[in-house]
Amino acid sequence: MALLWLLSCLALVGSARATLSLASCGVPAIAPVIRGYTRVVNGEPAVPGSWPWQVSLQNKTGYHLCGGSLISEDWVVTAAHCGVRTTDIVVVGAYDQEDPSSDEQRLTIAKVFKNPKFNMLTIRDDITLIKLATPAHLSARVSPVCLPDPNEDFPGGMTCVTTGWGRTDAASSQTPAVLQQVALPLLTNEQCKQYWGFRIRNMMVCAGADGASSCMGDSGGPLVCQKDGVWTLVGIVSWGSGTCDPKVPGVYTRVTVLRDWIDSILAAN
Ligand SMILES: *[C@@H]1O[C@H](CO)[C@@H](O)[C@H](O)[C@H]1NC(C)=O
Repeated sequence: MALLWLLSCLALVGSARATLSLASCGVPAIAPVIRGYTRVVNGEPAVPGSWPWQVSLQNKTGYHLCGGSLISEDWVVTAAHCGVRTTDIVVVGAYDQEDPSSDEQRLTIAKVFKNPKFNMLTIRDDITLIKLATPAHLSARVSPVCLPDPNEDFPGGMTCVTTGWGRTDAASSQTPAVLQQVALPLLTNEQCKQYWGFRIRNMMVCAGADGASSCMGDSGGPLVCQKDGVWTLVGIVSWGSGTCDPKVPGVYTRVTVLRDWIDSILAAN
């Protein structure tokens, strides 16, 4: 049973002018500490500030809709199925949703670029780019993640990390106050098809099934893998087991396959 980890969907496409900042990426000033390389179901609280690209997408009343990742001071990547609108808010530097700190910046959205190939039934190409109305102020707790090259290889078995404020228990509507992290292995698409069959397409990548899972509310957030000390955005939390069963892999948008689309949007805006 497949279930989107967040519901509604609304497209807004537009264009605007922008400058692209090529600051360094993927190296948190505050080092993450990953204990069990463990279980966002079966996760653990992150070290505050240690995933500086993590954003919380919120509606006007401050309700957490989805996660996302900062890829430059002007741009955020999230999932298309989150249905982000220009009236929503991007919160960077967040950690404790119940006790916001002065490190938080609440930023408004200039434009939303939903991938035109996104399909709500097959959940393919589940990616949206958000152009911020004002750039994020980069700091120790706010900095971008790296994007992978289109040809870069992230093999099955590689241990990566996903983060978010999604449910820690699918049966409860409670969401954690502080940012959760979980380490989990990538699967090859062949391995993933053993669980999900034909639903798994080339623009998807699976992770988990070893006692950890993303869950509702994590959608749009990062799946990152580390190489030579640098973290790269390999996946975007997309869909999975409706019960967030930690024995079933979660499915993520495969960023390598969508890198050219990302570049084209950034270059034109
Ligand atoms: C934000 O989302 C919550 C939960 O769905 C909802 O109750 C609230 O009305 C929403 N606020 C706006 C401004 O849409």
